[in-house]
Amino acid sequence: MKVAIGCDHGGINLKEAVIKAVTEQGMEYEDFGTYTDESVDYPDYAEKVGRAVASGAADLGVVLCGTGIGISIAANKIKGIRCAHVTDAFQAEMCRQHNDANVLAMGGRITSPEDAYKFTKIFLTTPFAGGRHLRRVEKIAALEK
Ligand code: RB5
Repeated sequence: MKVAIGCDHGGINLKEAVIKAVTEQGMEYEDFGTYTDESVDYPDYAEKVGRAVASGAADLGVVLCGTGIGISIAANKIKGIRCAHVTDAFQAEMCRQHNDANVLAMGGRITSPEDAYKFTKIFLTTPFAGGRHLRRVEKIAALEK
């Protein structure tokens, strides 16, 4: 299991907590940057993570910016990406169970590192429920055609 991680300067404060959650699950990760708090453009990092997940190079992704909003919008432009912007534990669970989200987005200016750790852990360990939810996820994929 490999997790692609990417952030801009606004989300870099959550990266360490995300990596902790990933490694504690015995999963591998690839850190696509950014690596400093110098201002960068979040779509560049959404693209790196989104392409890694969409191509199968990574199984799941986590993207981080100031709010989590911009980087989730950008990631969702990539075919095959279902990126969920999450601000609580219930959303972290539901986005996997019901939506089969393959990328988690969080905001470094609204979510604490402690919560980011918890949400990432839930995201990584909650399976997709399938059943009626599969039909709905297939309908999302049909919108990409
Ligand atoms: C960068 O200042 C900020 O706009 C970005 O991190 C993010 O919050 C955008 O949605």
